Amino acid sequence: MLTTTDNEYLVRVGPGTPMGTLLRRFWMPAIISTELAEPDCAPVRVKILCEELVAWRNTDGSVGLMQNACPHRGASLFFGRNEENGLRCVYHGWKFDTEGQCVDMPNEPAESNFKHKIKVAAYPTEEAGGVIWAYMGPLEHKPVLPRPEWTLVPPEQRVVSKYHQENNWVQGLEGGIDSSHVGFLHSTVASHRGDYTGASFMGLVARDNAPEFRVATTDFGLLIGARRKIDDASDYWRVTPYTLPFYTVIPNGPNQESHFSGHGWVPMDDENVWLLSYSWSPTQPMSDFGEKPGHPAHYTPMQPGTRKPRQSRDNDYEIDREDQKHKTYTGINNGSMQDRAIQETMGAIFDRTKEHLGSADTAIIMMRRTLMKLSRDLESGVEPYAAAHGELLTVRSAGFIAPAGVSFVEASEPIVRQNR
Ligand code: FES
Ligand SMILES: [Fe+2]
Repeated sequence: MLTTTDNEYLVRVGPGTPMGTLLRRFWMPAIISTELAEPDCAPVRVKILCEELVAWRNTDGSVGLMQNACPHRGASLFFGRNEENGLRCVYHGWKFDTEGQCVDMPNEPAESNFKHKIKVAAYPTEEAGGVIWAYMGPLEHKPVLPRPEWTLVPPEQRVVSKYHQENNWVQGLEGGIDSSHVGFLHSTVASHRGDYTGASFMGLVARDNAPEFRVATTDFGLLIGARRKIDDASDYWRVTPYTLPFYTVIPNGPNQESHFSGHGWVPMDDENVWLLSYSWSPTQPMSDFGEKPGHPAHYTPMQPGTRKPRQSRDNDYEIDREDQKHKTYTGINNGSMQDRAIQETMGAIFDRTKEHLGSADTAIIMMRRTLMKLSRDLESGVEPYAAAHGELLTVRSAGFIAPAGVSFVEASEPIVRQNR
């Protein structure tokens, strides 16, 4: 449970809020590269950390990101003309470069130097892993771009996508690090009947629906281990890295390391989040893994012309009660939509004074503490170490069977940090 004050402290990310200030020390994965597919293409609206922005790809291929409201009289630059290395407002023709500097002011006398005085906040961007990243914090603290493994592999070895979800980012992240929901929300009726007994992933999960959680604090965030007992001599461990400020990698079945998937919960504002999904193979093209390789989130059908999934609150996520009786635990098709249904319908910002946390919620408690501590430290002048050490984000998840009694941190760290 959190007090109302702590809940507000944890979830709100607008300019000037403590958590918003902390997040602005990290690079934000703001736009999928294909949204700005080519030089001089149409600009896009970007809402991130409660800021209304516009992004465009310059004639030279670089990406500009600045406030959407034109500094002249507030027209939306989304309607602007993207031409000759700048974005021109269609109201009176003012033109801006990627630094936010006004470079042309055709409705003022030619001899006027007014344009030199007009410069608005524009955020630095960099491109990696099929994503345009933005740094929205103070420039003197701008770190090098983090390079999670999915950004380091060749394009054919990854799939990246995003969709809009209508709830606070922390709520999504809590679902991502909550290994105990997997054996319920994403399970099947058959698994609860005990039909799965093999060494398959679902078989192992189904054996023990009350895993024991161990959580270790690390330099990148947390290492979250869920131990399911297989027999007296061995355990199945699912180890999820939580990397600051809002990323996870999903644990695979035992020793399955051919490809990985994970998510980032990028706050649009306090009540909306971009679910960023990435799947990658360290060694081979993703097309080796079938027609729809990687996480089901990539293949979510959208409402036409939007990044909002068709399965939504308005249609109860297309729940099928017959299917729920006989097949899936939820009756909702697509694992990602199962998460979305639950996270959105808790309310945009869940009132955490009303929750009752048990031992299965240890990781959630520690994640909140980690973020709040970093934020309080920053308020007292201590910079977040992980923000300046993006290399720490280069982690994988781990799934393995180990003899009972091993230290999960010792067993999983070499896999997670890829330093075998
Ligand atoms: S409002 Fe943009 S140029 Fe006037
Ligand atoms: Fe889930």
